[in-house]
Amino acid sequence: MSTPFSALERQRDIYLQGLSGQRPKIPTDPVALEKAAKDKMSAEAYAYVAGGAGVELTVRRNRSAFEQWRIEPRMLRDVSQSDTSVEFLGRRIPAPILLSPVGVLDLCHPHADLAVGRAAAELGLPFIFSNQASVPMERVSQEMGAGPRMFQLYWSKSYELVASLVKRAEASGCDAIVVTLDTTMLGWRLRDLDQAYLPFLRGKGIAQYTSDPVFQAMLDEPEEEGLVSPKRKVNLQMLKAVFQLMQNYPGPFFQNLRSGRPLRAVRQFINLYTKPSLNWNDLPFLREQTSLPIILKGIHHPDDARRALDAGVDGLVVSNHGGRQVDGAVSTIEMLPAIKQVVGDQMPLLLDSGVRTGADVFKALALGATAVCIGRPYAYGLALDGEAGVSTVLQNLWADFELTMRLSGCVRAEDIVHGGWLGD
Ligand SMILES: Cc1cc2nc3c(=O)[nH]c(=O)nc-3n(C[C@H](O)[C@H](O)[C@H](O)COP(=O)(O)O)c2cc1C
Repeated sequence: MSTPFSALERQRDIYLQGLSGQRPKIPTDPVALEKAAKDKMSAEAYAYVAGGAGVELTVRRNRSAFEQWRIEPRMLRDVSQSDTSVEFLGRRIPAPILLSPVGVLDLCHPHADLAVGRAAAELGLPFIFSNQASVPMERVSQEMGAGPRMFQLYWSKSYELVASLVKRAEASGCDAIVVTLDTTMLGWRLRDLDQAYLPFLRGKGIAQYTSDPVFQAMLDEPEEEGLVSPKRKVNLQMLKAVFQLMQNYPGPFFQNLRSGRPLRAVRQFINLYTKPSLNWNDLPFLREQTSLPIILKGIHHPDDARRALDAGVDGLVVSNHGGRQVDGAVSTIEMLPAIKQVVGDQMPLLLDSGVRTGADVFKALALGATAVCIGRPYAYGLALDGEAGVSTVLQNLWADFELTMRLSGCVRAEDIVHGGWLGD
């Protein structure tokens, strides 16, 4: 970013635009943001992004649990200056806000990960590339210049594919590998089930695979017996799905149609996607593949945090996948204090799932998080206005956080953890 970010300027800009009758295109209220995005997105896309597992108790708890904590602001502390930056993995990032990995972003906007990468890089906030991205990591990295980035790995059934993705992440300038642990299979997501819609079957969200040399080599091999096949009765809907599949696969449409490769790619993907047998003994394999820091995403039990410390990993994301995996699971903010107690200052702790406001960021830092990540809000910004929409969502959260911090009597984000700012 050319000029340093200022919450007061952001606030002033919005009010000044109001003088000429302009209201913000991207609502600052997170509920209104979601509503505006819903109005713009297809029913299937909105269901996929907004939905959670089961009856979405955990989605709601991810929000309501923040209410358990209250900030106790302090006065007369000279808050004329402030510093929202924090250190993360040896880098100074300008605000304790990262972008969680979100798959299939082209459901929100055709520029998908490219738009998100540009917005994040412009603000200097780290973007975690999804394993289920719509655009290969190399292309997004190119757009991001020196912007900080990481790669989120879904551990597939193929060790060769895992190794290849990790090498590509290194070559793409990623600062860390974030291994998501909570998706050894897909959660039971009612909204998607009732629309009978899974984007991957249409060739969406598999760009990291179709751009991978190991995956491509697998497509040259004779197909294994018994691979799950998406083939079904041929009707108009089916033809539409096949058309989409051909379009989503790299290369010319008719060549894809002739070769049948896109369909094979989907079958191969379904076969490999996750590894239900994943366990602690798999981690040394990853350590052998890379010298990059390894961060575990999806930890929300203190015993697992202890185990992660013993395993020598470099950081954790306290996450329940935005409530998309286990309905009824605890919220992350309520588990954070116990995890912080185990981990202390031995490794950075990120937290996601339900972070929507500056106060949420402040509370997470006060309870021991190094920084937070957000998922759905930036996807909604993307749906509403592409790169500009993502940037606006991030800047609004940043401004809200900075003002909350200063108005609470704290000038440095890194001092929040030592402040005793919360009451319950
Ligand atoms: C549409 C969507 C797709 C997601 N895809 C991934 C993914 O590919 N990998 C992953 O580790 N997490 C994924 N997540 C989970 C996010 O990384 C993050 O944990 C979650 O969105 C945070 O909660 P929030 O949306 O309430 O901010 C996805 C979340 C959403 C909403």
